[in-house]
Amino acid sequence: MQSFMQHNPTRLWFGHEQIGQLKQELGNKGKRVLLVYGGGSIKKNRVYNAVLSELEQMEAEVIELSGVEPNPRLTTVHKGIDICRQEKVDFILAVGGGSVIDCVKAISVGVYYNGDVWDIITRKASVEQALPFGTVLTLAATGSEMNNISVITNWEMNEKRGWASPLAYPAFSILDPSYTYSVPLDQTVYGIVDMMSHVLEQYFHRTEHVPMMDRFMESVLLTIMEAAPDLIREPDNFDLRATIMYAGTTAFNGLLSSGTDGGDWASHQIEHGLSAVYDIPHGGGLGIIFPNWMSHCAEEDPSRMKLLAIRVFQVDPSGKSDKAIALEGIAALREFWNSLGAPSRLADYNIDSSRLDELVEKSFMKPQVGSYKIMTRDTVRDILIRSM
Ligand code: NZQ
Ligand code: ZN
Repeated sequence: MQSFMQHNPTRLWFGHEQIGQLKQELGNKGKRVLLVYGGGSIKKNRVYNAVLSELEQMEAEVIELSGVEPNPRLTTVHKGIDICRQEKVDFILAVGGGSVIDCVKAISVGVYYNGDVWDIITRKASVEQALPFGTVLTLAATGSEMNNISVITNWEMNEKRGWASPLAYPAFSILDPSYTYSVPLDQTVYGIVDMMSHVLEQYFHRTEHVPMMDRFMESVLLTIMEAAPDLIREPDNFDLRATIMYAGTTAFNGLLSSGTDGGDWASHQIEHGLSAVYDIPHGGGLGIIFPNWMSHCAEEDPSRMKLLAIRVFQVDPSGKSDKAIALEGIAALREFWNSLGAPSRLADYNIDSSRLDELVEKSFMKPQVGSYKIMTRDTVRDILIRSM
């Protein structure tokens, strides 16, 4: 196990009607609040009214920024920064899924930066100060509600980039599982694929003697796989929504990679390249890319895939080669995701090989892609071709 420091400053309020904590959390901090949300789903369910009624009781001045896109865009971040400066906003409240939260993280650090926030996102400038923000989560997927990561797309340049800062943790996040009842089936499935992918990325590490972490990760995967099929049948089941919501947070809040090398993350890089060019849903892209990354890697070193196959997918190893066990596990993962309704080929999004070179290039937004296996342009190309 590697040495590590564990600290997560986000206060998480989880459960039915936890929105009541908003007043206490904002206290005197938020007198001029920028309320940020997406395309309007929060107005179709009861979330918008619930949040506003809390803010009204506090007599907070509320300014709104709506229309944050899925795969949030730099232009919207710029808009938010301008509003914060003009309106002297002292607190930002993100109400939505990962896209809204990621957009707010970028706004929060951009307000104090004397230049284009894209410099921070591309890691050319560091974060010195950030406007405090909190979140009300409406979709279980990314873990953004309890991590310091944000992913922003520069649509003019077709670049989708992740960045992180110790100042980009939400001060608090409120998670009421009933707020996710209205998430449509496809987004529910994308969320499940995304959170499982976060665990898998971290599972593919090369650190020895981390049985706590390995078993944590396996238990998160098994729990999601137990709950997900039932949730698809019963989308209004509070306990199932709660299980999936907390699994999504746990999958990517720092806990699972404590003591390891952090895992691989090449599949995420490749998916971000795909979204940057084709604007597809993140979880949909991962459902296609991840199993193909695994089968690509299993050719050389199937050891971790074999462990996963046996411990999570209950593959019987007797009389089989390591590679055969690994491939059986990968097939089981693919079958599980497909059974929920996740796409399996890029063709499902009408993506063919016509922009293959560009997709390869857009996967290399960081100097190193992958860690369990370091990718070259040729290996990324191979994974994309397997995925067509
Ligand atoms: O825009 P609205 O109207 O809110 O609708 C959204 C959107 O259309 C809808 N939705 C959200 N909550 C709902 C709901 N519809 C009905 N009822 C509700 N309660 O769902 C759609 C997708 O929302 P989005 O926020 O885009 O989804 P998600 O949470 O999956 O976020 C995806 C973004 O996060 C990034 C992805 O790359 C992508 O840009 N990621 C962020 C990470 C992080 N910050 O740690 C890590 C991830 O790996 C990922 O890269
Ligand atoms: Zn993800």
